[in-house]
Amino acid sequence: MKIVRRPAAMRALVRDARRRGKSVGFVPTMGSLHEGHLSLVRRARREHDRVVVSVFVNPLQFGPREDYRRYPRDTRRDAALCRAAGCDWLYLPTTRAVYPEGFETSVASGPLALRWEGAVRPGHFTGVLTVVLKLLNMVEPDTLYLGQKDAQQAAVVGAMMRDLDLAARLVVAPIVRERDGLALSSRNAYLSPEERARAAGIPRAFAAAAAMARDGARDARRVEREVKRLLRLETKPDAIDYVALVDPRTLQPVARLNRRALLLAAVRVGRTRLLDNRFLTPSRGKR
Ligand code: PAJ
Repeated sequence: MKIVRRPAAMRALVRDARRRGKSVGFVPTMGSLHEGHLSLVRRARREHDRVVVSVFVNPLQFGPREDYRRYPRDTRRDAALCRAAGCDWLYLPTTRAVYPEGFETSVASGPLALRWEGAVRPGHFTGVLTVVLKLLNMVEPDTLYLGQKDAQQAAVVGAMMRDLDLAARLVVAPIVRERDGLALSSRNAYLSPEERARAAGIPRAFAAAAAMARDGARDARRVEREVKRLLRLETKPDAIDYVALVDPRTLQPVARLNRRALLLAAVRVGRTRLLDNRFLTPSRGKR
């Protein structure tokens, strides 16, 4: 595995590979890698001749009171994990290389970005879209790999790729979870043991919602209320930013659970914001 720091070098490597008929898969990350990230790297490895992973903590997508400074960083560990997962080129651009003096252009997100994370974190998706577009232009991959963990991010990036005629294909891979169901996240490292135990209430509340859907529950608000009640009981969150049953494509709230819907939640446990989501499939025929 080669470590690449300069954008021009990154582009030259990929262009050379493509000239020789090799396909390229790309996994963008902010590092502090875990099995969720590595599942994307392994998938890219199975599906392409060359695999690029980027580690770049993107200042543009953090709000002024968010954790940009204390975001966990461990390049040596990330490099070892990437190598073991089959990465060919680990791209580590400096902040200066991505945002040189005079940088002023950004990508405006559309309606998909207004609710949920977009409402709680103003400017976040503009920061994400801008860096993902830049990374796609620097790497020029055949396929971009994102995780379903950040469902709204995947939807917003997918819309940008479609709307701005980007050539890459998008693959959204399933959420990787701990044994107790908690979705893996770099931010889980912030949790104290007591908070970590409470966080396991999130997937349990989601499982209860999935069971309600299977048992014929149709009223989306009732399912949301039950998830919030269970969260308050077990996770005792310091805040619930949102719990919402939405259309998987538009991310708009649904009133009735007549077809597959996506349950989204963001909760604060101590100072840590945790995101999760799960598809709910209603039983057929009932009610
Ligand atoms: P980061 O949070 O490091 O996540 C990188 C990729 O890993 C994202 O596509 C995310 O959805 C995926 N991922 C994270 N946890 C996962 C899990 N438990 N299971 C499956 N996939 C998981 O998302 C970002 O970085 C940034 O916003 C980025 C796209 C790199 C732009 O800066």
